Amino acid sequence: MNQTPQTPPMPACSHTPVPYAGPSRDSVLADRQRYLSPSLLTYYRDPVMIVEGSMQWLFDETGRRYLDLFGGIVTVSVGHCHPKVAARVQEQVSRLQHTTTIYLHPTIAEFGKKLASTFPKDSGLEVVYFTNSGSEANELAMLMARLVSGHHDLIALRNAYHGMTNQAMGLCGLHTWKQPVPQDGGVHHAQLPDRLRGPHGYDDPAAGEKYAEEIRDLILHGTTGKVAGFIAEPIQGVGGTVEIPPGYLPRVYEMVRSAGGLCISDEVQTGFGRTGTRFWGFENHGVVPDIVTMAKGIGNGAPLAACVTRSDIAQSMTGRLHFNTYGGNPVSMAAGLATLEVMLDEDLQSRCHEIGGHLRSGLQRLMDRHPVVGDVRGQGLMLGVEFVEDRDSLRPNPAACAHVHEAAKEAGVLLGKGGLHGNVLRIKPPMCLTREDCDFAVAVLDHAIAEVS
Ligand SMILES: Cc1ncc(COP(=O)(O)O)c(C=O)c1O
Repeated sequence: MNQTPQTPPMPACSHTPVPYAGPSRDSVLADRQRYLSPSLLTYYRDPVMIVEGSMQWLFDETGRRYLDLFGGIVTVSVGHCHPKVAARVQEQVSRLQHTTTIYLHPTIAEFGKKLASTFPKDSGLEVVYFTNSGSEANELAMLMARLVSGHHDLIALRNAYHGMTNQAMGLCGLHTWKQPVPQDGGVHHAQLPDRLRGPHGYDDPAAGEKYAEEIRDLILHGTTGKVAGFIAEPIQGVGGTVEIPPGYLPRVYEMVRSAGGLCISDEVQTGFGRTGTRFWGFENHGVVPDIVTMAKGIGNGAPLAACVTRSDIAQSMTGRLHFNTYGGNPVSMAAGLATLEVMLDEDLQSRCHEIGGHLRSGLQRLMDRHPVVGDVRGQGLMLGVEFVEDRDSLRPNPAACAHVHEAAKEAGVLLGKGGLHGNVLRIKPPMCLTREDCDFAVAVLDHAIAEVS
């Protein structure tokens, strides 16, 4: 048995939280249980109350500090309360809170232009619809695909997550997320191209193309032969950081387009340089979608999302008004523009590549040491650690995952959990994470995993 190294001390942080003077955690919990939706979920046996944040750090009401390895999914991309983003939002909120898009405002145009400039030059992806959530952006993408193609059937992937509105819920391939009411009949779910658990072998370089053949069958036998579109995340986030294998999307896009459909890339989790190698996840696959949806990291925590498409597609929407009361409001636009400027000025994509690579090698070493770690995967700063009973059976081990998740929190590291079986740790930190933070987190995980090995 390898010796578990000592956990290094938590890296230093220059931020001192303001002493908390609000209601107690217990009373907040009681009020939440009584007055808020009973379907809300809290992580941890003993839920954590977070009252302050600074870059990659979060603080609870006692002033206890946590390293946040999950804020990137919960929306924070460039760091909690990043000073440049916070200053721009504060300035805007005290100047003008809201205009509808009926009037002109400079920031919406400036942000739209800057966002469009992040797409490949010849993609034509330059028309932006601002919305308030990723679910709304996906609703809009579905609507456009149906209107433009004149067809109804949409193809999504099993295990996918695309949001919580009625139609977006129908796109989700994970039943956990769907209310048990009949979903829109026009959505078909294709087999997930999962290299770990699928039939084509982890390292088969042709696996992507083999999985794509399922889509051909689905179009031929499951639809009228014509489809409105196909939607997928380049790396499934909530589904457990499942990477779409190379070669899959190019084949699928070809098939969908010859069946009259549009291709949608849901970049809510993979966009904005998160994968390190490219700014958008689809670019890692050598494809160009017709519609791209994004949310979360776009505004560093502001309620902001977008659906980006080409002008010919947008033109087809002009038969009716499209309007969104808060979409494009100046406060969210200030947050989005400042966040994008920070991402580009500080080249956070390269940082995701470098720091993500360092973190991934640390996690890979954990896999070498602990047989309960069945897979380490992901790209840049979007990583996943899958727990199994053993690597031969690959039987999911949600109990080990839950233990490590809980133990890491006790040691000061907050992580996400996901996957069909709840056996994948999801790691998606703010992009300002340092090497030292990674070493600390890996050591904490090493200890926690040793307890279940
Ligand atoms: C890939 C993906 N698409 C869409 C959504 C929905 O976004 P929102 O919660 O902003 O509606 C999410 C949220 O987790 C997501 O992860």
